[in-house]
This record gives sequence, C-alpha cells and structure tokens, in this order.
Amino acid sequence: MQHLLTLKHWSSAQIEAVLEKALALKADYTPYQEALKGKSVATLFEKPSLRTRVSFDVGINKLGGHAVYLDQQNGALGQRESVKDFAQNLSRWCDAIVARVFEHTTLEELAAHATVPVVNSLCNLYHPCQAMADMLTLKERYGSLKGKTLAYVGDGNNVTHSLMIISAKLGVNMVVVCPPGHFPDGQQVVEAQALAAEHGTTLTLSSELTALKGVDAIYADTWISMGDDTPMEQITAKFAPYQVNAKMMADSGASYFLHCQPAHREVEVTSEVMDSELSLVMDQAENRMHAQNAILLTLI
Ligand code: CP
Ligand code: NVA
Repeated sequence: MQHLLTLKHWSSAQIEAVLEKALALKADYTPYQEALKGKSVATLFEKPSLRTRVSFDVGINKLGGHAVYLDQQNGALGQRESVKDFAQNLSRWCDAIVARVFEHTTLEELAAHATVPVVNSLCNLYHPCQAMADMLTLKERYGSLKGKTLAYVGDGNNVTHSLMIISAKLGVNMVVVCPPGHFPDGQQVVEAQALAAEHGTTLTLSSELTALKGVDAIYADTWISMGDDTPMEQITAKFAPYQVNAKMMADSGASYFLHCQPAHREVEVTSEVMDSELSLVMDQAENRMHAQNAILLTLI
C-alpha cells in the first residue's frame, strides 16, 4: 500500500504514469465509469477549500465511487478523538483518506495508523495534488516537460515545495523568486537541490526579477497562506515588486501564467494577466480533478 504525502517517495516513472492516466481520463471517462464502484473515499478538511473539495467529490463520482465529506467545523483532528483512532475508524469504512490539514505530522500520523491509502490534499508544507495538476496542465501545452523552466514568484510556501519536488522528478528546471526573508523552507530547499542534482535539473533561488528572463512559465500563489495571520499591510510594500503583471510577463518572455487559486486580483497578479490568453489557471483547476482521479486509481 502506498500513500501520497509529499511526492518525495514517488518515482519519476510513477508520476509520469499518473499524468498519462490523467490525460486518458480527461479524454474519455467512459471506460472508467465503474472504476471505483463500491469504493468510498473520506475527504476531510481542517482548512477551507473550493477546488479541492469539489474536484475530489465530482471526480470520485465520475469513477463510480462515493466521497464522504468531513468539514473543518469538526475542528482540528485529534481534538474529539486521537488521530490514530480517527484513522483506524475511517479505514474500516473507506478505501482511501484524502486530508487537508495544518500540520504535516497529522498526515504522517494518519498514514501510520490507516490501513488504506492517505492522500495529502494540502498541509503547511506540501500540496502534491496541486503540483500534479500543474504538471498535467503544462504537459498538455508542451507535450514533453523535459528541459522546460518553470518560475515561481512570491512567497515560498507549500505550493513552492511541491513544485520544486515534482519539477526535478519530471526534468523541469525551476527558478524561485521571492522577497528576502520569504524563501521556501531551508530543509525543503536542501532536499529539492539534491533531487535536482539527481535528475539533472536546475533549481535557482533569487530575489532579483532578472532571474525570470527566459523562463517558459510563471507561477504565482497567495502572499499569505491559510493559517498565516500576518496582516496584508505588513507585507504589501515588500511583495509589490513581485506582483505578476503584463510587464513582468513581457520582460521574462514567459508563454504561460499559472496560479493554484484562490487568486487575489491586483495583489499577487493583475486581472490583466489572470484573464489573458497566457493564463492557464482554469485549466489547472479542471486538471485537479483528472490528476486526482489518476492518483486515486493508482492508490486504491
Ligand atoms: N488550489 C486549491 O487547493 O484550492 P482550494 O483551496 O480552493 O481547494
Ligand atoms: N499556499 C496556499 C495554497 C492554497 C491552495 C495556502 O496554503 O493557503
């Protein structure tokens, strides 16, 4: 049995197989309409969600399975009963557990005690389902991902970490541009650099916008992630130069803009870019479903 907690333990071949399966699903769900017949998947959320909640629910339904939604009104896991008991109970009814949690350790604890696969649908450190959908979105455009360069601009966060991991494994170079003091977690960078070296890709970190010159695509995310209560006024001045706007896109020469959403228009990205021909954001949102379905079919 395998889990999807970080993507670090998934091989390049396995990730590529998921992307191929996702493309097949997207092209035609007919052969897969009963692929999860009689199967139930618990989807639980300690944090808010639109895309993750709906894409798992609708996606599982398309495969003939049943999604059981457990919302954040139940409070943080471990309060009403232990995470261990929660995992063991859910394992008796469900065939997989999809969990959006604050702490990555909660996912590790779920996985340690569940007897069914656990899928990370966002935690403070990672967002692997998002990264899978993002690579699917780029693959649709480029065919082959190898040798492409993806830039991430803004706050180094969970999305950045997962993009650094999956990029290396798929032969994609990465440029990460953040304001000083807002780089991705140091340990994650060390591990991602090692992965990049192993897979022959580059991972460049900079606070200079000139590092964006020549990249293929630019990716943005919120400047303040869920659970971070920093007031926006405190960071606006520092982050303002890192807003993705038409000038940044033109100066870099990037052909596509990506954003995991929810987006904050006129904050980390202008509406001009978000709504432009270069924007793949709604493809990314749709592809969450196909990528996650491919992940579920791999794990269950
Ligand atoms: N991108 C993403 O995970 O969106 P939600 O937070 O709405 O699920
Ligand atoms: N970095 C963001 C991603 C939202 C999908 C957050 O954690 O809030």
